[in-house]
Amino acid sequence: MKVRAAIRRMKPYAPPLEGRDPASRLLLDFNESIVPPGPAVSMALRRFIEEGRLQVYPEYGRFVEKLAGFHELEPAQLILTNGSDQGIDIVLRALLEPGQSIVLPEPTFAMYHQVAGTLEARLVSPAYGEDMSYPLQAVRETLGSADRTGIRLLVVVNPNNPTGTEIDLADLEGLLSDFPGVAILVDEAYAEFTGHTVLPWIGRFENLAVLRTFSKAFAMPSLRLGFVAASAVFIGELNKIRGPYDVNMMAVAAAEAQIDFPEDWQAYVREVMDISKPRVEAFLVERGVNFYPGAANFLLVRPRDLAGTMAYLKENGILVRPQKTPIGDTFRLSIGPLPVMERLMEVYGRYLEQAAGDGAARRSDGRR
Ligand SMILES: Cc1ncc(COP(=O)(O)O)c(C=O)c1O
Repeated sequence: MKVRAAIRRMKPYAPPLEGRDPASRLLLDFNESIVPPGPAVSMALRRFIEEGRLQVYPEYGRFVEKLAGFHELEPAQLILTNGSDQGIDIVLRALLEPGQSIVLPEPTFAMYHQVAGTLEARLVSPAYGEDMSYPLQAVRETLGSADRTGIRLLVVVNPNNPTGTEIDLADLEGLLSDFPGVAILVDEAYAEFTGHTVLPWIGRFENLAVLRTFSKAFAMPSLRLGFVAASAVFIGELNKIRGPYDVNMMAVAAAEAQIDFPEDWQAYVREVMDISKPRVEAFLVERGVNFYPGAANFLLVRPRDLAGTMAYLKENGILVRPQKTPIGDTFRLSIGPLPVMERLMEVYGRYLEQAAGDGAARRSDGRR
């Protein structure tokens, strides 16, 4: 079979999935929820099966209305997607001709590269600052040349993965109003953790699309559900790309339970952000480990010895995700409930003590 050259040139996006068994490992590597969703979700899934609906094709109308109501949008301003990964796919497919450009500050979430590669789109990637701040000036300068350079889309991952950095909402508003000819996709995969969202701006800006997911705070990445919010006109175009049944009804049943009974996931968000995250940050400060605090349910940590740290954590059943960044080798650490993070701190603390002991022994030996 003669596959397109652009696809042959690409590498698959292959996240490190082996050994990810939550029964035997602490999975602090994928920014997931560390605990399963609340009982309302399992009840809804069981009910869906018992009602004998598995053999019927999906129908999303009622849920889309509920979701729109939850976010104070019109149903026509939303489209459900198979994870927000599919949202990325359909938005980029709708907007980009081969050779046109996306502005994508780096480092960021890998799926954008993947989809851009399949479309033969070009990436223009200003770098996040050394302090991981949003490269606003560079983005504005790049967008200023959009007419000449074929730039069609700016992606704003807010907060960004893996840096955790947010863009100031006033700066984002400035970009939307100053560059009406450039589409701006705001990826809000972690918005439940920050409480910052531009969903209320749909209807105000024709050039805005927002991406949301049920994979993070809603704790259901295995079911694959996200949505895109934008003007009804743009959503109408996306409806021509997404298949009529791409989202499965188990995901819809589970998400409906999360919207109807938000107490469990909201309590999880509060525990992670108000209790666990400050404790882990204080631990890292005390131990002199560099990290970038960020605004979401994860931290970007820059240890002195990445390979040694990761190996020790893994030996002790804890997985974290290595990240190549311009500021050096780092790992991304998901934050979960306090007892889970206490286990992490106990193991990491032991490693740091051993490493300090080894360093001192080497120095007194005169070895370097
Ligand atoms: C910034 C960002 N966007 C989108 C996604 C995709 O999430 P999903 O396809 O599970 O909705 C992720 C997942 O890690 C992410 O970090």
